[in-house]
Amino acid sequence: MGDQAAVIGIITVSDRASGGVYVDKGGPAVYDWLNERITTPWTAVRRVIPDDREGIEATLCELADDKNCCLIVTTGGTGPAPRDLTPEATEAVCTRLMPGFGELMRAESLKVVPTAILSRQTAGIRGGTLIINLPGNPSAIADCLNVVFPAVPYCVELLDGPYIDTDPALLSAFRPRHARRREES
Ligand code: MTE
Repeated sequence: MGDQAAVIGIITVSDRASGGVYVDKGGPAVYDWLNERITTPWTAVRRVIPDDREGIEATLCELADDKNCCLIVTTGGTGPAPRDLTPEATEAVCTRLMPGFGELMRAESLKVVPTAILSRQTAGIRGGTLIINLPGNPSAIADCLNVVFPAVPYCVELLDGPYIDTDPALLSAFRPRHARRREES
């Protein structure tokens, strides 16, 4: 795909935000975090949906298969409560799991808040799409993306996705030397 604009899905999973009980803050926080750092062309596809497992799975499939998202970031529904079902839905639609993402995000979040261990956030691959779960607290978004995103552009590239680059003043995307473009090396 190379130089095509990246399509990135942002899904807020929350009964209350989707029901209008409160305004969604997680989705905009993910969008702003990405938009401040990604320097290559990209567009967002955004959804705000309830904590319903079938609905989460259907939305992940729609964004991966129909909207051709190279990356989907979810926020919310990763905890231990009965209606927290985002990791189950993610695992159900992925053909491969990427356990390092959840491990690293929890480890980093534990430096900030002891309840980070309550998040079952995971990541996986569906076709050409990398799916990453984040907790619902908007402050968790930067905590988590700061540590895992340096590896995301290369992962997307390995899945035959578009070339994504970031503002090095804010976050450096890491690629092995053989995968770097001439201007980077
Ligand atoms: N991680 C970070 N970085 N910051 C947080 O505030 N909240 C924790 C945890 N991980 C949190 C965090 C809490 S209290 C819970 S219950 C779980 O994420 C799950 O949150 P979720 O169900 O909204 O996804």
